[in-house]
Amino acid sequence: MTALNSAAASARESVIWPHRHLLGLEELSADEITLILDTAAAFEDVSTRSVKKVPALRGRVVVNLFFEDSTRTRTSFTLAAQRLSADVIDFTAKTSAVNKGESLRDTVRNIEAMGVDIIVCRHGSSGAPHLIAKNVACCVINAGDGRHEHPTQGLLDIYTIRKVKRNIAGLKIAIVGDINNSRVARSDLHGLLKLGAEVTFVGPPTLVSGAFEKLGARVAHDFDSIIGEFDVINMLRVQRERISSNVFPSIQEYSRLFGLTNERMRRARPDVLVMHPGPINRGVELAGEVADGPNSVILEQVTNGLAVRMAVMFLCKQASESH
Ligand code: CP
Repeated sequence: MTALNSAAASARESVIWPHRHLLGLEELSADEITLILDTAAAFEDVSTRSVKKVPALRGRVVVNLFFEDSTRTRTSFTLAAQRLSADVIDFTAKTSAVNKGESLRDTVRNIEAMGVDIIVCRHGSSGAPHLIAKNVACCVINAGDGRHEHPTQGLLDIYTIRKVKRNIAGLKIAIVGDINNSRVARSDLHGLLKLGAEVTFVGPPTLVSGAFEKLGARVAHDFDSIIGEFDVINMLRVQRERISSNVFPSIQEYSRLFGLTNERMRRARPDVLVMHPGPINRGVELAGEVADGPNSVILEQVTNGLAVRMAVMFLCKQASESH
């Protein structure tokens, strides 16, 4: 380790995680993001052991409160909590008293009254986890709220990039697709800019507003003219459920101009990392062969999500107990 790295490491050791909740990356400092990544790195090896458990959250209760469908995030939070030895309860809005008209505030206050320590919430409305955080004393972790943020996805994306490229500062990162509707793009942007990357949002003007330049992103509408610049290309899902109508002529037209096809990959840097938060629309934003190809780290993202979510739950719970 160089003297500089050693000094940076000891500076980070002195960073104290002060937050009971994780609601977004916008409000975190670069040091706080780095502390989560370093804590995740320390947890990574738990998943490689024959007994995949540490007692960090033994006796604590985590509730997964999901008002929207999820495969990766929900399973990942469940496994991460189990690996920290917490008890986990899965709440599914579709089969709950929400269907009888119970409000979000009453729902979470009733859940908390059963002695819950951490609420992990995914909701279709931006700001729902913030509302929950104002109404409960336990920790709240945002697992994706509307078009606002998906902070643990942002963290696992950054963790995955850092693991391969070693450093985030100076990297050129493209995030391609339905940016206007994407909570992942917003979390990635906040986190990556804080760590010194250059972020370009790419897509048709109907899906990538020029207003993102005010947040520090570069905005581009011609993927082909710039594809060779990037160290990382993060392809977003075309969110058919959130796109109003007629934002591009057809799925085929979108794919022709912005899809990461085999042909387009030949013009990318040989060492480019291909990422996607999932779920993938194969043949729309990403060719199946590219998704499964040598540059893809899509499944590594999923694997790394476990350690990142262990770190987030551990740090938030620790902060809540020290207050
Ligand atoms: N990346 C992501 O949020 O996937 P899920 O919708 O499956 O949780």
